Amino acid sequence: MNLLLLGPPGAGKGTQAQRLMARFDIPQLSTGDMLRAAVAEGSALGQLAKSIMEAGDLVPDDLMIDLISERISQADCANGFILDGFPRTTAQAEALDTMLGDRTMSLDKVVSISVDEDGLVERIIGRYSCVDCGAGYHDTFQQPKSEGICDQCGGKKFSRRKDDNRETVLSRLNTYHQQTAPIIPHYEADGRLVQVDGMAEISAVGDAIMALLENSRDD
Ligand code: AP5
Ligand code: MG
Repeated sequence: MNLLLLGPPGAGKGTQAQRLMARFDIPQLSTGDMLRAAVAEGSALGQLAKSIMEAGDLVPDDLMIDLISERISQADCANGFILDGFPRTTAQAEALDTMLGDRTMSLDKVVSISVDEDGLVERIIGRYSCVDCGAGYHDTFQQPKSEGICDQCGGKKFSRRKDDNRETVLSRLNTYHQQTAPIIPHYEADGRLVQVDGMAEISAVGDAIMALLENSRDD
């Protein structure tokens, strides 16, 4: 199953991708995570991306297209993948169509997670993740079962993203409206787009996505 999760910063793309990954045993392809790894490594891509990400702008299309093209060619994507954070521009959406077509692949569903933007800043500012395995948490909405201990790996170190501050979040939202929301009609036209209410509780959003995917398998 090849899936794409769409939605503004804080909509829950990463949260739901982790649930889908566990359910279908397919990898999450998060361009944000890939870029953060490149920044941490100090690679050429990371050095270029660092200030762009901290400003809430987008890394150039050609670099992102090469990154995803290389990633979907890897063996673990043969049975499917979950795109999270790519495409983010019309040029990226068109390049994705071409790269999937070249590999005789296609997207099965595009899940658009709709949210009330007033709540997004709170969601993003409260977010943190496990340093060892990357599992995501929230100060209020998704706490570990035992305080200070990761549910998934038992790790005790957590970190917060540098771009998760009020000023950068507002810039990221603006970038989303200017450059990413315009790609939604690209997927509406051929019936692949399904909408879920991203303001429900995390598990309810997950159940709604699962129900839509199960229905589409019966189509
Ligand atoms: P990226 O890492 O993709 O960030 P983003 O799009 O801003 O999205 P987020 O990761 O902030 O939100 P999310 O939807 O994953 O929310 P989450 O599930 O964590 O990109 C970062 C940067 O990299 C970009 O700004 C750009 O510079 C660059 N970049 C990346 N891809 C690029 C591309 N293709 N082209 C160019 N540049 C690119 O949830 C947020 C919090 O809310 C969590 O704490 C979670 O626990 C909580 N939460 C989730 N769902 C719910 C719910 N239903 N109820 C209550 N709380 C919830
Ligand atoms: Mg994310």
